[in-house]
Amino acid sequence: MTEKEVFEWLTEVEHPAREDRNIVELGIADEVVVDGNRVTVTLAFPKRPDPLKQYLTGAAKSAIYRHAPGGTEIEIKTVVREPKTQKKPNVNDLSLEGLTNVRHIIGIASGKGGVGKSTVAVNLAVALARLGYKVGLADADVYGPSVPIMTGTEDAEPLSEPAENGPEWILPVEKYGVKWMSVGYFAQPGQALIWRGPMACNALKQMILQVKWEVLDFLLIDMPPGTGDIHISLVNDIPMEGAVIVTTPQDVALADVEKGVNMFRNKNIAKPVFGLVENMAWFTPAELPENRYYLFGRDGGARMAEHFGIPLLGQIPIVQSIREDGDAGTPAALSSRPDGLAFVELAGRLAAAADGKTE
Ligand SMILES: Nc1ncnc2c1ncn2[C@@H]1O[C@H](COP(=O)(O)OP(=O)(O)OP(=O)(O)O)[C@@H](O)[C@H]1O
Ligand SMILES: [Mg+2]
Repeated sequence: MTEKEVFEWLTEVEHPAREDRNIVELGIADEVVVDGNRVTVTLAFPKRPDPLKQYLTGAAKSAIYRHAPGGTEIEIKTVVREPKTQKKPNVNDLSLEGLTNVRHIIGIASGKGGVGKSTVAVNLAVALARLGYKVGLADADVYGPSVPIMTGTEDAEPLSEPAENGPEWILPVEKYGVKWMSVGYFAQPGQALIWRGPMACNALKQMILQVKWEVLDFLLIDMPPGTGDIHISLVNDIPMEGAVIVTTPQDVALADVEKGVNMFRNKNIAKPVFGLVENMAWFTPAELPENRYYLFGRDGGARMAEHFGIPLLGQIPIVQSIREDGDAGTPAALSSRPDGLAFVELAGRLAAAADGKTE
């Protein structure tokens, strides 16, 4: 007769006034001590009087009596205290356990939408994997997830795995040597995700914390556009190490970059910005791959980086194939074209910056 067995037997005792849930589940069966042929069970009842206390005490005794070997002495003690209920896991119970073996968690952010944040995030992930790093990417854009299309994984259905304690693990989708996760995998195709504030925020955290990332050198978080509450809460709750800000070279972008940078530098967050990525830095036509046309001037990115005192990590040209590859689900960073190599170069600089900051 073991304590575990006794708890097992006690699950047969249901509480008639509590939806027939058993006393183990309800946390009323608080403690079991087995000592030779003697078993002592402590039942914990809440402060308010439970009219079924007598009944449950008797029922617990009978349950043990039915299973225990002959001659067992059974003692049922009762104490008054809030029972330890087995809470249903919810997002607030999610731990950081899934991130234990992740070395660098880096947010990919921008001040405004449409600057190519997701394009940069996806290609950076693929490029880091090309350099031999173990990489994951979480698409934190719950309103317009773009990672599934950009990686050609729209049809993927992430599997789950039971967890020892807490909610089950979600397994990431693996392709191009990267582990991908996106709320897009859980939505019906074509169905708009109309989530609001707290709900979107929780879904987001769940999507990052409940994933079995295992060992990673880099986990990139493709942040949703903007710098609102959702961002602050995300940066606070996910132990992000720092950020990469994506921008375009136009003058108007300066004010947006400032918003992005300030989001990480504000005193409540205070995370380093590893650097700036200037996307669409120059235009290169497909038929003249070596030509660079600086439509918005040449040094915009460098000046901006200097203005904010952060390194310019990389410049990515605007080329038709980057967009086409994004639409086709085969990231440009897989190729050895100049634009593909621009992402690989960027990946190398980010890796150096991140390792330099922490080691
Ligand atoms: N360097 C580039 N060359 C060509 N097209 C690009 C480049 N970067 C991004 N694009 C295209 O621009 C569009 C917007 O890019 P993307 O979705 O990556 O931006 P985003 O900043 O993530 O947008 P959102 O704010 O909506 O999340 C996409 O169609 C993408 O293919
Ligand atoms: Mg995006």
